[in-house]
Amino acid sequence: MRLLAIESSCDETAAAVLTYPLHVHSSVVASQIADHQPYGGVVPELAAREHVKALPWVLEQAVKESGLTWSDLDGVAVTQGPGLSSSLLSGLSAGWAIARRLKIPFYPVHHLEGHLMSLFFSEQAQNPELLCPSLVLLVTGGHTAMLRMTAPGEYELLGRSIDDAAGEALDKGARLLELPYPGGPEIEQLAKTSSSTDTWFPLGAPSGEEARKRGGDYPFSFSGLKTSLRVYLERNPDRAREDVAYAYQHAVMHTLVKRVRDVLTADSDIRSVACVGGVAKNQVLNQELQRLVDQHGIPLLTVPGKYCTDNAAMIGAVPIMTEVEPATQFPAADPNLALRGLRLR
Ligand code: KG4
Ligand code: ZN
Repeated sequence: MRLLAIESSCDETAAAVLTYPLHVHSSVVASQIADHQPYGGVVPELAAREHVKALPWVLEQAVKESGLTWSDLDGVAVTQGPGLSSSLLSGLSAGWAIARRLKIPFYPVHHLEGHLMSLFFSEQAQNPELLCPSLVLLVTGGHTAMLRMTAPGEYELLGRSIDDAAGEALDKGARLLELPYPGGPEIEQLAKTSSSTDTWFPLGAPSGEEARKRGGDYPFSFSGLKTSLRVYLERNPDRAREDVAYAYQHAVMHTLVKRVRDVLTADSDIRSVACVGGVAKNQVLNQELQRLVDQHGIPLLTVPGKYCTDNAAMIGAVPIMTEVEPATQFPAADPNLALRGLRLR
C-alpha cells in the first residue's frame, strides 16, 4: 500500500505519503497558528480559506519529498470528521478528486482514530501484539478521553471529560494569563521559569452517578479548574504569573495522571500506556506518566512531537494499521463523526 494522506480538520493543512508496513516517507504540515493568533482562537471561515490556499503546495511537496510519483500511489486517506465542516470539506474534495483522477481507493478517516494510531510512531511500539491491551490517554485541544485498545481498530471507552478538554483548559487558561494561542506550549514555557513549587488548584476528578453517566467509569472535568484560575487571578493580582502557570499546569497534568493511575490499579491486564494528541507534547505530563508506568513495570509509548499535534501521517496510519472500507461515493464532512470500533463499558 502506497498511500497519500490529507488532514484539514482544524488549523493545520497537512499531507503525508506512507507505505505498508507502517513507514512515513514524507509529512508536510502548514500551520495556520499565526493567522488565528490575533483572534485568540481558530476562526472557521479563515481556516477554510487558508486550507484552499495551502492544499496545492502541501500536496505537491508531500509527494515530491516522498521520492514517489503520483502514479505510484494506490490509495488516498482523508479526515472525514470530527472538525470544522468547511475545513474538512477542503481536504475531502481535494482527496476525492485525486482518487478519482488516479482511479485508486479513497479511505475516509476519523480524526481521533488518527491520533490513536499515532502511537505506532513511538519507538517503543514495534510489536502491536505485545502492547495490547494498551491504555491510551487521548488529549487533544477538543477531546480528553482514556481508551482501552485491545487491538488496532478495537477500543473501549474508559472515561472522558464531562465538560472542557485538558487542551481547552490550557488554551482558555492561557487567555486568562494573557498568553497567546495555543495555550499549552505557552503555559509550559512560562511555568519553566517559575522557581516556586506551590500547587493549590483542585484536581478535576469528579465522582458520583451523574459524572459516571456522562464521563464513564473514569470521568474528567476541567471547567471548574478554569474558574478557579479566574477567581485566583482576581484575588491575587500580584502573584507572579509564572508561579500561577506552574500551579495551573500541575493541576491539569496531575488530573490526567491520577486517572491513568486509577485504571492501572484496577486493571492488571494493561500491558502498555500510550499518550497521544497535542497535549502529549507536555514534558511534565510525560515525566509523571513515566514515573507511574515504571512503578507498574510496563512501557510508556511516547509519540514524537511532530506526530502529537495535527498531522497527516497519523491519518494515513489508520488504513495501514486497521481494516477500513474504501468509500464508494463522496463522503460528507461530519463534524460529529462517531468513532467506529468503540465500545462503551
Ligand atoms: O491534537 P491537537 O494538535 O489538535 C486537536 O486535534 O485539537 O492538540 C492541540 C492542543 C492545544 O490545546 C494545545 O494547547 C495543546 O494541544 N498543546 C500542548 C502542548 N503543545 C500543544 N499542551 C501542553 N503542552 C504542550 N507542550
Ligand atoms: Zn487533532
